[in-house]
Amino acid sequence: VTTTDSSAQDLGSAYQPLTGEQLRDPYPFFARARQEQPVFFSADLGAWVVTRYEDVLRVVRDPQTFSSLDTLDAPFEPVPEVFEILMENFRPVVHLVNSDPPDHTRLRAMVAPAFSAPRISRLEPAIRRWADELIDAFADQGETDLVASYGYPLPMRAIMHMFGVPPEDTERCKRWCDDATLFAFVLSTLPPERQIECAHSVVEFQDYVAELADDRAANPRDDLTSDLLQTTHDDFEPLSPAEVASLLPGFLLAGHESTANLIANAVRLLLERPSRWEGLAAAPETATAVVEEALRLEPSFQGMPRTTTRAVELGGVELEAGQRLLVMFGSANRDAQRFPSADEFDTGRPRLPNLSFGRGIHFCIGALLARLEGQIALETLARRLPGLRLADGFVPAYVPTLMMRGLTRLDVCWVGDA
Ligand code: HEM
Repeated sequence: VTTTDSSAQDLGSAYQPLTGEQLRDPYPFFARARQEQPVFFSADLGAWVVTRYEDVLRVVRDPQTFSSLDTLDAPFEPVPEVFEILMENFRPVVHLVNSDPPDHTRLRAMVAPAFSAPRISRLEPAIRRWADELIDAFADQGETDLVASYGYPLPMRAIMHMFGVPPEDTERCKRWCDDATLFAFVLSTLPPERQIECAHSVVEFQDYVAELADDRAANPRDDLTSDLLQTTHDDFEPLSPAEVASLLPGFLLAGHESTANLIANAVRLLLERPSRWEGLAAAPETATAVVEEALRLEPSFQGMPRTTTRAVELGGVELEAGQRLLVMFGSANRDAQRFPSADEFDTGRPRLPNLSFGRGIHFCIGALLARLEGQIALETLARRLPGLRLADGFVPAYVPTLMMRGLTRLDVCWVGDA
């Protein structure tokens, strides 16, 4: 790809999201980009970065022009051994997030009932119980890393339970999910041994969920894996066990990682100003508004890729067909054209939909579940530990991945038992 605009190139080389200041706080850089060059090219990432709300919205609403087929394809080549492992064992992945209509239309129609409001609200009592149990486990310690002890395990338990993964397999599923995230987004930046490990994890994960889907096809149970296999539709063929197996890693992964990040990001935003935390503890019903504002300011998915299917103008740039884009929800959500005083945490702001869950045909199918989990996680924590505060000297550090916004840890402390 060539670009003749030198300021676009400058901004592109200044974009270093995986390290230093921009990893800690990417938002000032995006503010500059929205102002100076709202769509700029990053040679390092081989992609055009889209930063304004209007442009991001236009892309996600137009899947004909902006395809999702390459969404899960790593932008750079991994070491050759990775190909060998995949060539022998890998099953092609059918998923919602990396498909376009008409395939996407069928898949979405077939899985939508599993994520319906009644199905999700049935989980509420269990999520509340798990939140309390997790807090019981660390309540008398006076300090904890909330990412490890609360943010991750809560949505992990929920999603594993929903799809019928036995609790004793949670740990290895977690490892596979972590490796699969690296595999999808930053594989080629890892040392060769880690790349190979991640490829093995992806294959083991596929074998595991294939067995799970085959088992539920033969012996249906009260879980979503069985539901997906039994769902029928007037216009579409049912999902085969192989298709369900292919969908499962995506659900297990998307279903916990992003919600875990939401919980930790929200608690951090609150504890940074103790009066915010006190406000929630005094009025737990405000958790819904806190979740929305945390999602807007620190979306777990900072962005997603798309690829142009035809020549198109976007944000003042002429793009050819076949160009990779990164649409940055994290930047769009702070666009002052859309959200006045966009950098401020304000739970009282007028409710304008933000882009944290995307928009259009790929709008997050788990949004209801994520919101419910986030809300219960905050409410329960504020009820149990109203005196929570950040540990002395805590400095937030973020996992260096391009798309996710996740704290490596969240050290907190409190006085007395919960
Ligand atoms: C805070 C938590 C979450 C955030 C911020 C989030 C964010 C997103 C975003 C931005 C998209 C759109 C991707 C695109 O346009 O390319 C998406 C899609 C998706 N999300 Fe979520 N998500 C969250 C939780 C969940 C949960 C709990 C599940 C449950 C399984 C889930 C499953 C999915 C799936 C399957 C898609 C693809 C939908 C499609 O392509 O039709 N997500 N999510």
